[in-house]
Amino acid sequence: MESKVKKVAILANGGDVSGFNAVIRAIVKTAERNHVECYGFIDGYHGLLKNNYIRLSSADTASGILAKGGSIISSSTNANVFHYKVIEDGKEVYKDLSEQCVQNVKEDGFDCIFTLGGDSTQKSARDFSLRGINVIGVPKTIDNDVACTDITFGYNTAVSVATEALDRLHTTAETHDRIMVLEVMGREAGWIALESAIAGGADIALIPEIPYDIEKAAEAIKRRQAIGKNFAVVVVSEGAFPKGGEVSVVHERDGGKGVINIQLGGVGEKVAEALEKLTGLTARCNVLGYMQRGGTPTAFDRVLSTKYGAKAMEFAVQGKFNVLTVLKDGKLDCVSLEEVVGNNKEIGAVQGGTPESNVRVVTMDHDLVKTARDIGISLGD
Ligand code: F6P
Repeated sequence: MESKVKKVAILANGGDVSGFNAVIRAIVKTAERNHVECYGFIDGYHGLLKNNYIRLSSADTASGILAKGGSIISSSTNANVFHYKVIEDGKEVYKDLSEQCVQNVKEDGFDCIFTLGGDSTQKSARDFSLRGINVIGVPKTIDNDVACTDITFGYNTAVSVATEALDRLHTTAETHDRIMVLEVMGREAGWIALESAIAGGADIALIPEIPYDIEKAAEAIKRRQAIGKNFAVVVVSEGAFPKGGEVSVVHERDGGKGVINIQLGGVGEKVAEALEKLTGLTARCNVLGYMQRGGTPTAFDRVLSTKYGAKAMEFAVQGKFNVLTVLKDGKLDCVSLEEVVGNNKEIGAVQGGTPESNVRVVTMDHDLVKTARDIGISLGD
């Protein structure tokens, strides 16, 4: 088939994950086999704005990167070029700078832009599609909360890191008769907490989808104490919150990139303190943080990322634009970006993490929830 594209570019946007480079490599390799030139914008949507890009080739720039963490073309967090903070006459104002990006893409003759990112990134991709740019999304985030796909790349590696941490916490919890709380990422979705809790044999998993009752969580520990187990391992999503309470926020931040967002954190410490009081066992909190995002991807993520990258390039060759590459019931497919953004239609209006953003959260009928309950993991309800 004659390729519908001749020159394409990739951008990586949002918090990094293990697997970015594996996707980039797969796109580049598939592009080369179809005689398509491939480029990479540096620092996500900022690269698009500043027209800052490099040539990507499997012979040099994109060579030897399959197992490498991070992103060889960087990644920008919180870059919303449709609503971008600039200083004018000494004052902070928000402007729509997307037209500059559109001009850059058109002038330099890119037939398609691959947007590697989470819900905010795909929201901007959809907004660019309405401005006449061909885009193809690839779903990324350790949180696994992108709508319309069963899984995002980077998630499996994060679960693996959290599971290893739980294994380590288990032995120290048992040795010292302590409660070990592990706070993991997951702003609005408890996928990492839930799956790692099952994989790591945790006793309690608290997730944003189920506001927790700390007394109920403490009861689960007391039941263990009653059978002579004087220790417990607890996983808490950073976005978990108590019934009738609020999420724990470290601070509002800007990061100098135009959009303010909220840094979550602290719920693990609160849970540890409360459980210590209610059970009489000493509790310690561990925050896993950015370790979940860095380093080499698991074999699963290398394969998933490669499949996503190759398929995304295949869609470009076929001229199937303005879609997100997805995995549905084990099969690669695509869905329109309109479907991905759901009701979050207003161009440039919102970033992720707001009530308007369309994120895929854990549903109560999901197998992971059922399995957790079946084996007696307390979900704090
Ligand atoms: O969205 C992925 C994520 O890892 C969240 O779980 C976390 O809250 C956030 O990124 C932190 O991102 P950063 O501090 O890089 O902005």
